[in-house]
Amino acid sequence: MISVKNLTKIYQVHIRQANLLKDIFFRTYKDKAALQNASFSIGENELVGFIGPNGAGKTTTLKILAGILYPTSGTVSVLGTVPFEKNHAFLQQIAFIMGQRNQLIWDLPASDTFALQKEIYSIKDHMYKKQVEMLGGLLKCDHLFDKPVKTLSMGERMKMELISGLLHKPRLIFFDEPTIGLDIFSQEIIRNFIKSYQSESRATIILTSHYLEDVKQLAKRLIIIDKGSIVYDGSMNNIIEQYSKIKLLTVVLDKTVNQMEIRAVAPPFKYKYPKVVYKVKKEELPEKMKLVVKYLPFSDLTVEDASIEEIIKQFFKEKTWE
Ligand SMILES: Nc1ncnc2c1ncn2[C@@H]1O[C@H](COP(=O)(O)OP(=O)(O)OP(=O)(O)O)[C@@H](O)[C@H]1O
Ligand SMILES: [Mg+2]
Repeated sequence: MISVKNLTKIYQVHIRQANLLKDIFFRTYKDKAALQNASFSIGENELVGFIGPNGAGKTTTLKILAGILYPTSGTVSVLGTVPFEKNHAFLQQIAFIMGQRNQLIWDLPASDTFALQKEIYSIKDHMYKKQVEMLGGLLKCDHLFDKPVKTLSMGERMKMELISGLLHKPRLIFFDEPTIGLDIFSQEIIRNFIKSYQSESRATIILTSHYLEDVKQLAKRLIIIDKGSIVYDGSMNNIIEQYSKIKLLTVVLDKTVNQMEIRAVAPPFKYKYPKVVYKVKKEELPEKMKLVVKYLPFSDLTVEDASIEEIIKQFFKEKTWE
């Protein structure tokens, strides 16, 4: 469905000069490599999480795959065509949905944008009705269709954005930070929506998000990009297992103890009476638990996995030592 080989994208960045006239008439540029020899392929019905630090090249990659940008070099094939040729059949089958950019008509109700999409994509009446009902039902937001977009909350607007972008039943969807700026409840609604939409539609999805929980819950496969190069391409479980060597051991004390006793287990990661949290290596867990029992009077004891954020941090830390 998607095949990318040695993809490179160099942007020409304008260098500002102190002399304004010189800056206008003799503009100078330097090359900025946003992508360097990136290669990967994605099969039908996959949902791939695409992550990396700010400026790593995620949006640039998605834009190239969607035909919005030309690559500098390398080959790209998406749905059997070259995306930037923008042939009609290709555009009919894809959707590019960005969290931070609004495609809805601001002063009008979302239903007007939907009607416009219907015309643009020549969606048949019955198909259109079915899709609006299905998407509105999944997102529980039919009652908002006729309110001016500018009066909607960010989360509500994102729901409209999703409906508008998916009316034409795209086979391939690029989600670029669909949950950015939303509160945790709205993030969860959008996340659950993507999950059920994908299992119903069997669309192929590439999803970028800075909220790693989105990617963890939705994607089985993860591609990590850093400074324009792919640094990991594999299963989500693999990376979690390989890099989650740290467990968080939380002890709830039932009476005050002195620092010596707390430190007898290990230096605490966090301590605020009655809670002590230790960061413990997986293999040291049994021994540390024995020490807790020996030195600390406690009413509760829990062991948690490190968060996905910690795991990715660990991945980057170890990568720099390779
Ligand atoms: N139009 C442009 N002109 C010049 N440089 C650009 C342009 N667009 C992006 N860049 C640069 O290319 C690099 C990759 O940008 P890109 O937007 O693809 O990153 P990203 O991974 O999506 O980051 P973020 O997580 O912040 O969205 C960055 O260094 C960025 O500054
Ligand atoms: Mg981006």
